[in-house]
Amino acid sequence: MPSTNPLLQPYTLGDLQLPNRIAMAPMTRARAGEEMLANDLMAKYYCQRSSAGLIITEGTFPSQMGVGWMHAPGIYTDAMQAAWKPVVDSIHEAGGRVFCQLWHTGRASHSDFHDGQLPLAPSAVKHEGAPLRTPKSNGGKVPHETPHALTTDEISNVIDEYQQAAERAMQAGFDGVEIHAANGYLIDTFLQSKTNHRDDQYGGSTEKRFQFLREVTAAVTSVFPSQRVGVRISPHGDFNDMGSPDFREQFLYVAEQLDSFDLAYLHILIGTAFGFHELGEPLTMHDFRKVYSGTLMANAGFDRETGAATIADGGSDLVSYGRPYISNPDLVERFANDWPLADDAPRDVWYSFDEKGYADWPTYQERVPATS
Ligand SMILES: Cc1cc2nc3c(=O)[nH]c(=O)nc-3n(C[C@H](O)[C@H](O)[C@H](O)COP(=O)(O)O)c2cc1C
Repeated sequence: MPSTNPLLQPYTLGDLQLPNRIAMAPMTRARAGEEMLANDLMAKYYCQRSSAGLIITEGTFPSQMGVGWMHAPGIYTDAMQAAWKPVVDSIHEAGGRVFCQLWHTGRASHSDFHDGQLPLAPSAVKHEGAPLRTPKSNGGKVPHETPHALTTDEISNVIDEYQQAAERAMQAGFDGVEIHAANGYLIDTFLQSKTNHRDDQYGGSTEKRFQFLREVTAAVTSVFPSQRVGVRISPHGDFNDMGSPDFREQFLYVAEQLDSFDLAYLHILIGTAFGFHELGEPLTMHDFRKVYSGTLMANAGFDRETGAATIADGGSDLVSYGRPYISNPDLVERFANDWPLADDAPRDVWYSFDEKGYADWPTYQERVPATS
């Protein structure tokens, strides 16, 4: 008998037919090596998860200055583009659909990644959060630096880089791209009053803080049809030393403005299970529904029941799962059959690393041969 679980109902996303409402959330796995190239291990990992309605890749750097995490992949050179192509092809052959998440790390990076050049931000506001691993930190961690505040000319260059990365993603065969505007990386630091202290056209008011994302979205949707572009935001997050007291006003404005782009989806870390700044009453998916008419994707802390409930009550159209996907590549089948989940990634240990800097949960293919 066909399942009545709302998560398992098909969904039409623009011109894509999704077999279910379950998305795989973007997750950095740091397996692309020093060359930052997608590879066979990544292909296998994504193919194992191809029953998801939509896969969103791990964050992928759109430019050299966007790099800020050891061994994560890029998509800004010919070699990087060529490396993604067979990965994307194999996901398609396995029956999946995949968007590439474009990730400029901004002030969360370090000059060690950029031959001594300071990381980029809207304003010279230092990240006071946890130190980071860099190519020169010898396995240890170094504190963040005061970033370089971008000039308006430099901002134009960064937007061009997003456009070029989108072109490369299209050449590599991706079904679309997700613009990472969440979690304290470059775009989020433009959106938030905590980190954007500019007084030009890119800062000083709710409207102006949105201008950078507006231009990035316009650039990316000049490459992909708008219905193949998603945007991800994190109104409640404290990750990367974020959190602004005016978050409600700012993020509702962002959603309202993005609505006119007719995007594939707006992806919101609505749950507080991935860090919460506690600066006010959290927004709800229904708050976003009032200002956004397109497809909404909810994330952070959902399980089978709460994911189904947010679709059933009209809060969301799609639900993305991150940590549950690490050790449950067959998450769709487990939800469909109400099988228990393997729980290698307990949510109270929400983000931890081994001594090499890798997320320390064994993945399914590390524990179980890929053929099983
Ligand atoms: C290992 C790991 C890597 C992550 N990498 C990214 C990333 O590259 N881009 C991103 O937007 N979020 C990233 N996240 C956040 C997840 O997409 C997701 O928002 C978070 O895990 C909360 O959802 P969950 O409760 O379903 O796990 C990562 C999370 C984890 C656990």
